[in-house]
Amino acid sequence: MQYGYFDSKKREYVIDRPDTPAPWANYLGSPEYGAIISNNAGGYSFVKSGAAGRLIRYRFNEQDRPGRYIYLRDDESGDYWSASWQPVGKPLEQYKSICRHGTGYTQLEADYKDIHSELCYYVPHGADYEVWRLKITNKGSKARKISVFGFVEFTCESFYEQDQVNLQYTQFITRTYFKEKFILQTINENCLNAVNESRVETRFFGLAGAKVESYCGDRAKFLGNYHDYGNPVSVENGKLDGTLNYNMNPCGALHTTLELAPSKSAECVFLLGQKRETQAKDLIARYEDSTLPDREVDELKSYWHKKLGNLKVTTPDDNFNNMINTWNAYQCFITFIWSRAASLIYCGQRNGYGYRDTVQDIQGIIHLDPDMALEKIKFMISAQVNHGGALPLVKYNHNPGHEDKPEDDSYSKSTGHPSYRADDALWLFPTVWKYIAETGNTALLDEIIPYADKGKDTLFNHLKKAIDFSLNHLGIHGLPAGLHADWNDCLRLGAKGVSVFVAFQLYYAFEIMIRFAKFKKDSATEKEMTKQKDRFGKIIEEHCWKDDRFVRGITENDVTVGKKDDPEANIWLNPQSWAVISGFADDVRGKSILDLVHKELNTKYGARIMSPAYRKHAFDGALALLFNPSTKENGGIFLQTQGWIILAEALLGRGNRAVEYYLESSPAAQNGIADTRLVEPYVYSQFTESVDSPFEGRSHVHWLTGTASTVMVGCVEGILGLRPDIDGLRLSPAIPAEWKSFTMEKVFRGKKLNIKVNNPDGHESGCKKLTVNGEAMEPQPSPQGEGSPLEGNYIPASILKAENEIILDM
Ligand code: GLC
Repeated sequence: MQYGYFDSKKREYVIDRPDTPAPWANYLGSPEYGAIISNNAGGYSFVKSGAAGRLIRYRFNEQDRPGRYIYLRDDESGDYWSASWQPVGKPLEQYKSICRHGTGYTQLEADYKDIHSELCYYVPHGADYEVWRLKITNKGSKARKISVFGFVEFTCESFYEQDQVNLQYTQFITRTYFKEKFILQTINENCLNAVNESRVETRFFGLAGAKVESYCGDRAKFLGNYHDYGNPVSVENGKLDGTLNYNMNPCGALHTTLELAPSKSAECVFLLGQKRETQAKDLIARYEDSTLPDREVDELKSYWHKKLGNLKVTTPDDNFNNMINTWNAYQCFITFIWSRAASLIYCGQRNGYGYRDTVQDIQGIIHLDPDMALEKIKFMISAQVNHGGALPLVKYNHNPGHEDKPEDDSYSKSTGHPSYRADDALWLFPTVWKYIAETGNTALLDEIIPYADKGKDTLFNHLKKAIDFSLNHLGIHGLPAGLHADWNDCLRLGAKGVSVFVAFQLYYAFEIMIRFAKFKKDSATEKEMTKQKDRFGKIIEEHCWKDDRFVRGITENDVTVGKKDDPEANIWLNPQSWAVISGFADDVRGKSILDLVHKELNTKYGARIMSPAYRKHAFDGALALLFNPSTKENGGIFLQTQGWIILAEALLGRGNRAVEYYLESSPAAQNGIADTRLVEPYVYSQFTESVDSPFEGRSHVHWLTGTASTVMVGCVEGILGLRPDIDGLRLSPAIPAEWKSFTMEKVFRGKKLNIKVNNPDGHESGCKKLTVNGEAMEPQPSPQGEGSPLEGNYIPASILKAENEIILDM
């Protein structure tokens, strides 16, 4: 079943059936003010933090309730509905609804009994409040009088968890007031004029563009006993009774009446935010200008569309285009901004940035907004501890130079992280490399950045220390110890147990350091890193390869995980894909292990993280055993890993395979099987249940997932073959043989590239000829010294003009 489609021109996903199999959400706002909204107006808002700044309530794991509701009531008949299909939920034969999720806004249109409504929710660019703009039109032939009720359920206090569970306290600290055009909610108001005045908070819910006819600030009164959001007693009655809350549960509810002659429209605006009384008043006054919302929504669109426009691809596959041009890209920005803090699944409890997650998230936006990426790179570098390890969780109020760390009790108490993870700091290498290659900003290497706990260093030395950390934490055979976990949270290999995934990350880190050292003409470092890389390569060769595959790790007790004859978990995806990505596996071995992956792990929804799932033969630290088979890390299709297998196949030039993996797991390609997939067909989720599950194909943990960035990299760097390095850009597409041509418009270092790739003979990769502005690119000596010739698919940055016509014949 299909519930919607992509409107590529407007960069919207349009839901034309509101009874989606799960709430399909969108993100509005910025780090200052975040808002999540479903296609049925469910969701919540928060100031700065989903955990500590929760403004409105949402009941997780329930029926997508409550939300930002507007009820409409025909005052003649008493019949009422909502401007979103839910919560009133009129029969779909009578109620038509369209939801347009766009970049930073969500618009709901409804038609019910000749009344057409358009409701646009957005957070103005850079603002810390939200706007619900309602416009209704009388499509019938007789005059109508429509009562409009806006409703929001405030939390009793900003700490989400307290609001939900500590009712004996939170219910007794809040009050609401009516102030002519708005409901004002106060929290801890009694502290005004006391020493702890800072505890006082105020929120408002206001109405502009229409007169408030009645109001209510008390949830129980608004809903009525034994009524629900779908049938509030005050909406039934057509009037709000003016009750304000003093203790118990507050709300903001405002009522106005719009009279509509046939074919006439009327509009009004509801506003919500955490503001003082006078600020609220001023804001509402601004929105008396009814032209403001249109201008603000246009501004949002141009902000996002410009950013996303830095790469525009037109391939023969519309789903691919829609994801790369808009939705995967937008999701990358959302994960970049919100990390794993707030969604309909992440309830806001992870109050900080996971190190590895965020450093990986950065990779998803580098090609679109390198400046934004740079700021976060520096921030994350400043969360590296002086000895080279990284803080597993970086607090939102991170204070470089003064942080406690996993060695300190205080750190583990406040973050729940007792020790270091093996992979965290190693993610810096691909991320910093991608940033410098995209921008050419090599000066960053010499920039001095503080450590989390003490001291400061150049970024180059930070990277060296990350390597030191790994080399100082080696386990058996001299391979990197698994520590608290590696990328896989469910693998406790122990202090001396070792991780093969991390071994490949480290191998790759040496390679990146060699490139940087060469650039810096730092021959001592270049030599040292080359030596380490070779030495390490031999260890990997000797201990990580068994029969026909790379194993996953070796436990403290010398049990090798991922051997061919193991009864369970005998083949793992990541060590195979990373053997290729890291450059360790050559072409022949690369192809053979990826063929094995395809045979053993691939399914119709993507490649499993490992197989068979653990049931009876898990080792002690295999926490994945906790999950049902084919779920999450226990043999599920962990979608983040699809990006790596896509990239690995593309690096080997196998475009058919790369795109096969892409299509199996791409949300857009699953648009037609929404009832199987459940979650949004326009964004990635964390994992898909696989073959052991009775619900194979069902996906979970929407929006905030590393999948967004790894798949983006797999597609942009892998399939599309945009591979920048310090001096220019290599063009190495790995596409399905059936793509006869495609185009890309890319902004690269401030210059415009119009790229056309021709593939008349149906190749999967390769380059016969590349011309830049009419000139054929010849193989040329590497600007980095070595004397190794560059292939003809290389474009030196130095020859680029403001705008460039580039043609690659495959
Ligand atoms: C989750 C975590 C991430 C981890 C992954 C695999 O996505 O957020 O940090 O790498 O699971 O275990």
